[in-house]
Amino acid sequence: MTQEEANLEVRLEEQEEFEPPESFVEQANVSDPGIYEEFEENWPECWEGAADLLSWDEPYETVLEDDDAPFYEWFTDGELNASYNCLDRHVEDGSKNRAAIKWEGEGGETRTYTYGDLLNEVEAFAATLRDLGVEEDDVVTLYMPMIPELPIAMLACARIGAPHSVVFAGFSADALATRMNSADSEHLVTCDGYYRRGDGLDHITKANEGLEGVDHEVSDVVVVDRLGDELEHSLSDGQHDYDELIADHEGASVEPVSRDAEDMLFLMYTSGTTGKPKGVKHTTGGYLSYAAWTSHAVLDVKPEDTYWCAADIGWITGHSYIVYGPLALGTTTVMYEGTPDYPDKDRLWEIVEKNRVDIFYTAPTAIRAFMKWGEQYPARHDLSSLRLLGTVGEPINPRAWKWYYKHIGGEECPIVDTWWQTETGGMMITTLPGVNTMKPGTAGPPLPGIGASVVDANGDDVGAGEAGYVTVNKPWPGMLRTLYKNDERFIEEYWEEYSDEDAVNRQLTSPHSTSSREDADEWVYFPEDGAKLDGDDYITILGRVDDVINVSGHRLGTMEIESAVVGVEGIAEAAVVGGHHDVKGEAVYVYAIPEDGYEADADLEERAAEGILESIGPIAKPEEVIFTPELPKTRSGKIMRRLLEDIASGNELGNTSTLRNPGVVDDIAEQVDN
Ligand code: WT7
Repeated sequence: MTQEEANLEVRLEEQEEFEPPESFVEQANVSDPGIYEEFEENWPECWEGAADLLSWDEPYETVLEDDDAPFYEWFTDGELNASYNCLDRHVEDGSKNRAAIKWEGEGGETRTYTYGDLLNEVEAFAATLRDLGVEEDDVVTLYMPMIPELPIAMLACARIGAPHSVVFAGFSADALATRMNSADSEHLVTCDGYYRRGDGLDHITKANEGLEGVDHEVSDVVVVDRLGDELEHSLSDGQHDYDELIADHEGASVEPVSRDAEDMLFLMYTSGTTGKPKGVKHTTGGYLSYAAWTSHAVLDVKPEDTYWCAADIGWITGHSYIVYGPLALGTTTVMYEGTPDYPDKDRLWEIVEKNRVDIFYTAPTAIRAFMKWGEQYPARHDLSSLRLLGTVGEPINPRAWKWYYKHIGGEECPIVDTWWQTETGGMMITTLPGVNTMKPGTAGPPLPGIGASVVDANGDDVGAGEAGYVTVNKPWPGMLRTLYKNDERFIEEYWEEYSDEDAVNRQLTSPHSTSSREDADEWVYFPEDGAKLDGDDYITILGRVDDVINVSGHRLGTMEIESAVVGVEGIAEAAVVGGHHDVKGEAVYVYAIPEDGYEADADLEERAAEGILESIGPIAKPEEVIFTPELPKTRSGKIMRRLLEDIASGNELGNTSTLRNPGVVDDIAEQVDN
C-alpha cells in the first residue's frame, strides 16, 4: 500500500457521513428534498403518485379508507391486474423485445426472456392453470427454487386472479405441508430438483413427502423438469410435467382478470413468536403500487437499467424487488440460481460485469462473507457499470458498509440501507439515494409519507440519541391487510391502540387488546424492532425485540425451533436463542435437557439437529446443541433467555444471583465454544 492509499484508507475509516455523488443526483428519479414536505402536507393523497405508476382498468374512488381501522383499504374500488401491469403494457408500449428476465443458471447456463417471451409463457401457464381447474381466489402454492418458472408461475396466478403462496425451496417437507394446510391450498407447482454447488439436488422427494402431510385433497401438482436426466423421477397420478403442459397451451391467450385493488395478490408465510407461521396477506393495488414506487424512488430503477437483487424469490425481498417492483417498471431484472461462491468466490462480480448491472441489492450477511473472502475477488472484475447499491435484511455495521462502498461501488455509488419487513410489503426506512446524506450503520429517515418513529414504553417519541421501539403511526399502501383467516391475531400481533384522552402524555391503552376497537383514536403498528434515534430523524435499527432471530437476513421464530427440538425422542425441554455470528449475524443455539434414561451424547445431538431440519430446513441448522440437566430459570420459573443469549454470544455474564439455580450457568458456559 502506498502512503497515499494508506491515507485514503484512514479517511474512509473515519468518515461518518457520505453525500451522494453529483452525477448520481443529476440522473436520479427523485432528487428534490421537498418530497418529504410535499408528502406530509398532502397525505394520504400523496400516494396517488404511486398508484399512477400502474395502469388501472377502473380508476379508484378513494385513496385511503380508514373506517374500519386497522383494517385499512387503499385505492378502493379501483381495478387492475398485476400481470398486465408487469407484462402486457410494456409489450404494448413497444418494449416487447426488451429483456425482462436475465437468468443465470448455476452451471453457467443462461436464459433471457424478453417481455414478449415472458408474456407468452405466462399466458400459456395461465391457460394451463385454468384447465387444471384453478379458479379465481384459489391459493396456488409454489414450492420452487430460483428458476424462471417461479416468476412465470407467480405472474400466471396473478393473471387469473389466483393468489400464490411461495414456499422457500430450502424449507422442509413439514414446512410445506403446514403452509398448504393453513392456506387450504389445493394446487402445487414444484420441480424435480435444482443445482447447488454443482450437484443436482433432489427436491421432488421433499415435495412428495410434504404432500403426504397435507390434510385435504390436492387436486393437481405441476412439476418443472430442471435436472433432466440427472435425476430420474416418475410422476404419480395427478402430477403433470410443466413443459408438456406449456407445449399443449402454446399460443394461448388469456385475458388478465380485473381484480379489485383490495383483492389478495399473494400470501407469504413468515415466522412470529408462536410456533405457527403467519400468513401475511398482500393486495393487488396497494402492494403493487408500493413495490413499484419504492423501486422507482429508492432503487432508482429505470426501464433501460439492468437491475439485480441477489435474493431468493422465496422471501418477500424477491417478491417485491426481483419480480413485482422491477417488472412493473419495465426494467431488466437479473435472477441467479446458485450460491455466491460457486464455481468461485467472484461469481456475483462475474455476473455484474457480464450483464453490465446498474443496480445491485443484497444482504449484509453476504457483504460480510465477501469481506471475509477478500477484495481480490471483486477486483478481478470491471464493476464500473454499477450506479447504486442496496442492502436489506439486518443491520449493517459501518465497517461492512464501507467495504461495500469502496470495493463494490468504487466510492461512486450511493448505498441504500433499507429497513422493512414481510408485513410492510416494501421499504419503509431508508435514505433516498438522490436526496439524503448517508450515515453508515444507520438506515436513514422514514420514507416520505411513512410515519415511522422511535418510541419509549409509553409510546412517546424518544429524543435524539435515545433508544426505543420502532413504530409506524400511519398506514401505507404496501401494508399487510391481515393474517390469512385470522383477523384477531393480526391485531394482537401488530397493533396498539392509543386513545388521545391525554394527548400530551398519551398512554398505551391495554396493549394488544381488541375489545375497544371502536374507541381507538389512533392505531399504531409495532414491527417488533428496537432502534435508536440518530439526530432528528435518522433511525438506527438495533434488532428484534421479540423471540424472533435473524439468521443471514432470514427471520426464524425461536418457538418454532423449540417445538421441533422438543418433538425429538429423548429431549425433555429446550430453549432456543440467537447468538452472535460473524457472517450470519445471528446463529441458532439450542440448550436442551435430556429425558431421564437418555444420554446427552453425539447421537442425541444429531437427532436434535435432524428434528430442526425436518420441521424447518437447513437455514435453521443449529450452530451448537448444548445439553444441560437444567435451564437457568428465574424464581418464578421463567427461562432466562437473555443469559442464554449472552452465553451463546460469548458476552460477559451479568449478575446471576436472582436465578433459582445459579450454579447451572457455569456448567453451561463451559460447554459453549467461544
Ligand atoms: C426483519 C424483517 C425486508 C426483507 C427481508 C427480511 C430486519 C430488515 C433491515 C435493515 C436492520 C433489518 C428487521 C425486520 N431488517 N431490514 N435494513 N436494518 N434490520 O424480511 O423476514 O420479514 O424480516 O428484518 O429486524 O423486522 P423479514
